[in-house]
Formats: sequence, C-alpha cells, structure tokens
Amino acid sequence: MKKGIVYKLTIAGVLFISCYNTKSSRPPASRLPSLKEIFKNDFLIGTALSAEQIEEKDSSAAVLVRQQFNAVTPENVMKAEIIHPQWEEYNFDFADKLVDYSKKYGMELTATPLIWHSQLPPFVSKLNDADSVRRYFEDHIATVAGRYDGKTHSWEVVNEALNEDGSLRNTVFLQKLGSGYVVEAFRLAQKAAPNTQLYYNDYNIEQPRKRAGAIEIVKKIQAAGVRIDGVGIQGHWHVDDVPLNYIEQSIQEFSALGLQVAFTELDLSVLPNPWGRIASADISQTAQYEAQMNPYTKGLPDSVQQKLATVYARLFLLFLKYKDNISRVTFWGVNDGQSWLNDFPIRGRTNYPLLFDRQYHPKPAFYTVIETKKKAGIVIH
Ligand code: G3I
Repeated sequence: MKKGIVYKLTIAGVLFISCYNTKSSRPPASRLPSLKEIFKNDFLIGTALSAEQIEEKDSSAAVLVRQQFNAVTPENVMKAEIIHPQWEEYNFDFADKLVDYSKKYGMELTATPLIWHSQLPPFVSKLNDADSVRRYFEDHIATVAGRYDGKTHSWEVVNEALNEDGSLRNTVFLQKLGSGYVVEAFRLAQKAAPNTQLYYNDYNIEQPRKRAGAIEIVKKIQAAGVRIDGVGIQGHWHVDDVPLNYIEQSIQEFSALGLQVAFTELDLSVLPNPWGRIASADISQTAQYEAQMNPYTKGLPDSVQQKLATVYARLFLLFLKYKDNISRVTFWGVNDGQSWLNDFPIRGRTNYPLLFDRQYHPKPAFYTVIETKKKAGIVIH
C-alpha cells in the first residue's frame, strides 16, 4: 500500500479516536454509515449470529445487524452436536429460525459446518466401525443439506480438514472413510443441495503449506467431476501479524482455479498470544502471567485502537483490489463482547477484535474501513 494512503488512514484513525473518546459526539445508530451500503457493489458484508441474536433478543444488536450487514452465518446453531444430537434425532429449531430471519431481512445465508471433526454429537465419537461412520456421514449430509437447499445460498461443506503442513487432519472421517471423504462430502452435498453454492472452509489457508493442501483438495474435487464453488478463508488473525502478501497470493491462486473467495470468520485479536512463549511451571507466577496476558481490561489504549483501525483499513484495501474475486467478507460476531476471542486461547480475557465495541458503538476501525471505499478509487489501479 502506498505510504501516503497509510498516512491518511492513520490521520483518519486519530481523528476518529478523538471523536470516539467523546461520548456525546457519537452519532446515533440511525445516522451511521452502513457497511453493506458502502460495499454494495463490491462484496457482501456478513456477520456470525449467536442463538440469542437470531431471536433478536438484544434490540441494540438487532438494529445494528439489520443496518450494517447483508449476509449471515450461524456461529453455532448448525453444528452437528446441536442440529443432529442423536442417531435419529435432528433439532432444526434455531437453523429454521435463521432461515426465516435471513428471508425476512433479505440477507444471504451461509450454512455451516456440514462436515467438521469438532463439536460432533457424543454418539459419533463412540462409533468404532467404518460402516456406522459412513452411515452417519451420508445421513447427515442428505438430511441437513437437503432440508436447506433453496433456503441457504451456500454451504461450507467441509470445515478445517487440514493440518498446518497441508496434510489431512487425523479425524474420525479420515480414519474410518479414508482420504477420499472430502471429495465424497462434496459429491453428496451436490446431490442433496443442487441449488446451493459449495465451499471448502479453513483457517490459515492463506499460509503457503496449508494453502497447497487446500489447492490439492480443490483439484481432487474438480478432477472427480464434482462441483466446488468457492473457498472460505476464515481470517482469524492477530493485529500484529496480518499476512497481507499471503492473503493476496491466496486470492489469486484460488481464483485461478475458477473459485470465488470468501472471508468467512474475520476478526483481529489484539491480545498477547501465549503460544511461542516458554510456559512456566511455577504455580505462584500464574496470576501475574495471566494478568500480563489480559492487559486491556479497562479499555483499549489509543495506540492499539489506532493500530487496529489502520490494519483493518489495509485489509479492506486489499479486499477492494480483488472485489471481483471476493463474494463476501463476514465478521465472526457482531461486537467485541460476543467474540469467541474473549475465551480463547485463555478464558475470561477482554479482547477487541471487531468493528463494534461492547456497547455496539462503531470503533475507529469501522470508520477507517468505510474510508477505504472513498480512497479506493485513488489507491487501487
Ligand atoms: O451454549 C452453551 C451453554 O449452554 C453452556 O452453559 C456453556 C458452558 O461453557 O457453553 C455454551 O456453549 C458454548 C458455545 O460456544 C456457545 O457459546 C461452547 O461451550 C463453546 O465451545 C462454543 O464455542 C464456539 C466454538 O466455535 C466451538 O464450537 C464459539 O462460540 C464459536 O465462535 C467458535 O467458532 C469457530 C467456528 O465454528 C469454526 N472456525 C473457528 C471458530 C472459532 O473457534
């Protein structure tokens, strides 16, 4: 990105931080610019909804979601442990409510996850023989994908099947069904949901080795004559380490395979990452260590707020550059208070990864993201 633009975005960030700190200067929600309007000719702007948000229990969240987003993803309610708790028992209550919600507000729905090794119902974890796992796999795809065909725009058919080195993750599906299970999941999904876009979704697949694994998966699906429409790059990054070069290469490489690219779970952590540090075995140091790992309990310092705003802007400038290849940018949650990053990898921290704060007010990053659209005509060639 050109230095001048970074400078302007930084200035914009500083200005907005000044406004942000003056409560009275916050515009009421009804006068806010709208992300979905600003980017309406570029890509959809989505959010993940919790069960409470699907039911519109919190009116602040409900108003903001309708105003800012034109795409929704279930954060949890379509996971197998919820939607398919027993062999013959399905629980479609919240998934059906989400379908109604998306229809009512004209939002594009992405259903997820269809096949994922995590959050499986207990009965699946107890299956020992390949035939039973195959029966679960086939029944689940036919029943769940079939039910929502024509009601959801897309399915994330297989989620997080890869290790960091690009090899297939050792899951119950790999163990019992063999490495062909990913292609098979897409084949069955295509049959059950012929009118639904089919995506492979994973985190860190912008990283070269894992990306190569994802490309291999895509090529195998295509070689088998099975449909795959897109790849979802989740986008759980740290504000100090957003891999813009790798993201750009990934958009180019996945697009070259004829796929749409979606950013499906975007959030930027601002907290220290415990991985990579030497763990202490001294129990007496634990409290201090945890306090150090949770430094912003009383609010985010302006410098970090500004960094978050600038990094989000850089990311959106990149997204705008590739708007023809990107179908959707979805944030993983509506506001900071809802984010899973408050409890991962350490429970009970105070993180600030999204564009809206705990009171549903827009943060400086919201405004610098909006600004990118105004600047894009100048910057992007
Ligand atoms: O709903 C129960 C509640 O009844 C219970 O009292 C409470 C006790 O811990 O748990 C609640 O369920 C939690 C659920 O979120 C809803 O809040 C689960 O424990 C918790 O494990 C679950 O975490 C979710 C996580 O996936 C695992 O399913 C996060 O909300 C969700 O944001 C996260 O999302 C994943 C994507 O699906 C896949 N990609 C990575 C992403 C982040 O991990």
